[in-house]
Formats: sequence, C-alpha cells, structure tokens
Amino acid sequence: MEVERDQTVSSPTVPIVDLSNLDKELVARAVVKASQEWGVFQVVNHEIPKELIQSLKKVGTHFFELSSEAEKEAVATPANSKDIQGYVTNSQQDVEDKVDRVDHLFHNLSPPSSIDYRYWPKNPPEYRQVNEEYARQAKKLAEKILGWLSEGLGLDREALFNQGFGGGKKAVYTMKINYYPPCRPQANLVLGMQPHTDIHGLTILVPNEIPGLQVFKDDQWFDVEYNPSIINILIGDPIWRMSNGKYKNVLHRTTLNTEKTRMSWVVLLKPPYDMVIEPLMKHTGDGDEAPKFKPITYGEHVERKVRDKLQKRS
Ligand code: OGA
Ligand code: NI
Repeated sequence: MEVERDQTVSSPTVPIVDLSNLDKELVARAVVKASQEWGVFQVVNHEIPKELIQSLKKVGTHFFELSSEAEKEAVATPANSKDIQGYVTNSQQDVEDKVDRVDHLFHNLSPPSSIDYRYWPKNPPEYRQVNEEYARQAKKLAEKILGWLSEGLGLDREALFNQGFGGGKKAVYTMKINYYPPCRPQANLVLGMQPHTDIHGLTILVPNEIPGLQVFKDDQWFDVEYNPSIINILIGDPIWRMSNGKYKNVLHRTTLNTEKTRMSWVVLLKPPYDMVIEPLMKHTGDGDEAPKFKPITYGEHVERKVRDKLQKRS
C-alpha cells in the first residue's frame, strides 16, 4: 500500500537510547546529542525492573481511583501552603485557555529530611515500599544521566549533580503523579497541561498507555510514543542554565483523551531552593564561552516562573 504524502512518515521521532549498549561512549554521546537537539529522549534497558514500574502505576492508580474523598482530603495540600507537596484537584475546571486540567499528588522522595509521610497515601499498604524502591532506582538512573551530561560539557562526571544540584544530601527528588480524566472536547484540542518547560532540573516520566505527551521542536509538536519498556527523560530549566544553554529545556504539553483517563508518574530532580544556578563551565577556567545566564537561586527561578504563569492567565 502506498503511503499518502501527507502522512508524515519521515518526521523525526524523539531519540531512543539503549542503556544496555556495552559501548558506554556511544551511550553518552547519544544522551548528549538528544539533550542538545531535543531536550528529551527515551531510554530502554534502563535496569528499572518492569514489575516495579507496573507496581508503581498500580498503587498510584489505586490512590486516584479507589480512595475515598476523606482519604484524598487527608493528603491534600493545605490552603496557602508554600510547599507543593500534597493532593490538588484541577481537572474539573472550565475548559478555558491556559488552565491546566489535571489532578496531581506531589510528595518528596529524597533526601530523607525532605520527606513528609503525611502526604503519602496510606492505601494501598504497599504504596510506601513501592515508592521507596522506585525512588532508589530513579536516583541511580538520574545520576547516571547527569554524569553523561556533565562529561558532555567537558566537566567531571559529578559536576552537575554535586555543583548543580547540591549532591546526595541536598538534591531533592519529588514524586508527582498526574491524573487527567477524560474530557469531551468543545474545541478541537483540549489540553491537560499547557505548553511549559519544567521548572525543576531533570524529569523522569512514565505514563500509562493513554497517549498525550507532546514535545516541541523545529516549530512543530511531536507525539511522544508510548511503550511500557520506555522511560522518558526531559531536561528542565536549571540544566539549560547550568549548561549555558547547550542542553535544551524542552517545551512540552499534554492533550486529553475523550474516553480514557491518562496518568503519568514523574520523578522531579530539583536543586535546593538556596542553590545558585549558573553555567557550570565557567568553573573550569576554560572561559572561552561567555555565560549566557546571570546567577539566580533556584528559589528565585521558581518564584519568577510562578509569577509569569499567573500573569499570563490574568
Ligand atoms: C509535568 C508534565 C507530562 C505528562 O508534570 O510537568 O509535563 O505526560 N507532565 O503528564
Ligand atoms: Ni512538564
């Protein structure tokens, strides 16, 4: 059968990197290239057991679909809280421009001093153990990726993690579960999450089987393919700044399905709020590249982005 011309068969897709490749130089180069060109890539053979990912999805889905209102209320983000942890529902808002229509649950995973188990669902009982194990695995994966990205900047393997994110005692890992109930479109395309770049540094994302994530490149939106063995990695604002713009902070959004609920599990890697975010290459003394960004603390960056978002809405 002939393929119609307007079917964009030749359009590029989000790069896939096989982490089991024994040629680690090749893996590192692929990660660096994808981060420079797309700011997003998909990893396979990442060593996070498939059963663990299935369990993560199962316990999270249980919380959103089977808990009582009281159980959700018990982990709700307190009104006027500055802390993002907890459950928030925004999915039932009127479909109007520039509003995210998604329910979510945030809770920190690491370091231990940042964890507040008040925000972890009590049910199902294995919720905690599954999330703790996933956190250990996601951290290993994040540090591996930051190692390759550091080397791609001509820095030591540990540079981004230690100098950029504050190292093991300070880098904050947070779980965010997104829950997008179906939506009957009144317009052609109803968005779950508006186009944005991620405020935090690195995003490790696994969705359920309902498509919806799209990324922007070369003036076009591309669908991010789903496959249960894939983990999606997105570069956020801090790494864009720390790399002096070399790694892209990918613009992305999500669409809503008319029939089915979409969910995604996202581990966010954040620097501590008082960490100064700035191009790290200037520390190498090579100095041939002028810094494109002024130093800013991560906390200031977050405040600025939140303010901009509110302004756009009003
Ligand atoms: C996010 C995000 C995408 C998704 O949580 O910042 O972009 O697939 N999520 O849910
Ligand atoms: Ni995002």
